[in-house]
Amino acid sequence: MKAKISVHRDFTIGKVDKNIFGGFVEHLGRCVYNGLYEPDHPAADTDGFREDVMALIRELDMPVTRYPGGNFVSGYDWKDGIGPREKRPVRADFTWKAVEPNIIGLDEFIRWCRKVDSDILYAVNISTNTPKAAGELVEYANLSGGTYWSEMRKKNGSAEPHNIKLWCLGNEVDGDWQVGHMTAEEYGRTAHETAKIMKLADDSIKLCACGSSVFSLSTFGTWDIEVMRHLFSDVEYLSIHMYFSNRDKDLPKYLSVPEQLDRRIESAVAICDAVAAEKKSTKKIMIALDEWNVWYRGQISCAPEDIWQYGRAQNEEIYDMSDVLVVGGALLSMLDHADRLKIACLAQSVNVISPIMTIPGGGCWKQTIFYPFRETSRYGRGMVLRPVIDSPAYKVKGFCTEDITFLRSTIVWRQEENELTVFAINRADEMMDFTAHLEKFECLELIAASEIHHVSVEAVNSPENEAVHPADIPEARCSLTADTLTAQLKPLSWNMFRIKVKP
Ligand code: AHR
Repeated sequence: MKAKISVHRDFTIGKVDKNIFGGFVEHLGRCVYNGLYEPDHPAADTDGFREDVMALIRELDMPVTRYPGGNFVSGYDWKDGIGPREKRPVRADFTWKAVEPNIIGLDEFIRWCRKVDSDILYAVNISTNTPKAAGELVEYANLSGGTYWSEMRKKNGSAEPHNIKLWCLGNEVDGDWQVGHMTAEEYGRTAHETAKIMKLADDSIKLCACGSSVFSLSTFGTWDIEVMRHLFSDVEYLSIHMYFSNRDKDLPKYLSVPEQLDRRIESAVAICDAVAAEKKSTKKIMIALDEWNVWYRGQISCAPEDIWQYGRAQNEEIYDMSDVLVVGGALLSMLDHADRLKIACLAQSVNVISPIMTIPGGGCWKQTIFYPFRETSRYGRGMVLRPVIDSPAYKVKGFCTEDITFLRSTIVWRQEENELTVFAINRADEMMDFTAHLEKFECLELIAASEIHHVSVEAVNSPENEAVHPADIPEARCSLTADTLTAQLKPLSWNMFRIKVKP
């Protein structure tokens, strides 16, 4: 099979916002407790954070981390997590049927973020807490001093403000599963009042409104329109979530996830722009895909006597080679929407539906999806070029009615490095003769060519065996001229080429 991508130096989509390579830490399962925090572990630092886990997070280079939930946040009071630990309450977490010991709260989590070089995207509890409590949280986090809550932060050991710039107004409030679910009208009104207090406390912060969380909800779409009508002048982002699954074991359909995500992002943009038109405004609301990943296998139920604990395994997913193609493809969809998608958070960062797994008291290991994320995060930051794809295609039934090209490819121009990164996913079950035509570029050298491939799309990694990982593509399978890259791509493979170009 032959397939081609063409780009032109002058035709760009937009600059990639570093925050699309974000992570997500929720007080859920073994993400915080028995995950990134394990004070008795030999690799724990003086704060109880595992150094080996932090090293892997740094490898993924996640510039922003959403916290503390997720569904968890809708029953959470941030004040429970500050001050002397011995005085903090142990609460029932009704959302996840667990216990929240409040050992880790905002001040501790900020310390973890500083160590992994990440900012926070903090989700406030809009569902069961008050607008005033959200305002006080901004006061605690961002005011330099002289007020009750900012002085409290100092007393708790943080002399300098945490300076949290990005905030979510609640989480998935449209879903009936949410503790404190609301109608769009109720949410719009409450979020407006909450936004008002938060921005009165610190007008430099940026806010995300809750968009529709799941396609299957009857309110999907109409929720966003109504919410944006309430919040248009309050927020900078509309937050959307998307989890992918291959529950019906239909690989070609599963591999169309990037196109499904294209539509999801584009419909969110369309809604924001429609409301802007209604308001006769030129303001462009940006999109925050602040939860995304593959999630369908890891639903662990447990015996009733084990429920009220903390740090027990919940929602742990083992990823395979097919998930590499889907996660890698979703990242290309995000790059292709660099003009409007400004935040994305892989859900989640440790153990819970995560690229990083830990063994309590033992090592940690990389799931298959660790690699497409790491490589895209490392080499996918720059200017995205507008792609024209010429490839055989197939049809799938369901969300996507369009043709799905066997080739999904994106090219990022890393202008400061004088490099092009060519990402190419071969979704065909046969070899692909791939061509990238790079018009008005003068290519100097193929710096690197790597692929992720396994003979079985069901291959998984484990603590003992890293079956799926990047490998160099032999020179015999690729070649470069002044403006054209050609390569033979393995069936069902993820590929990346780095090319030095003349400035
Ligand atoms: O990431 C797991 C859960 O998925 C989050 O808590 C929730 O927001 C979403 O439904």
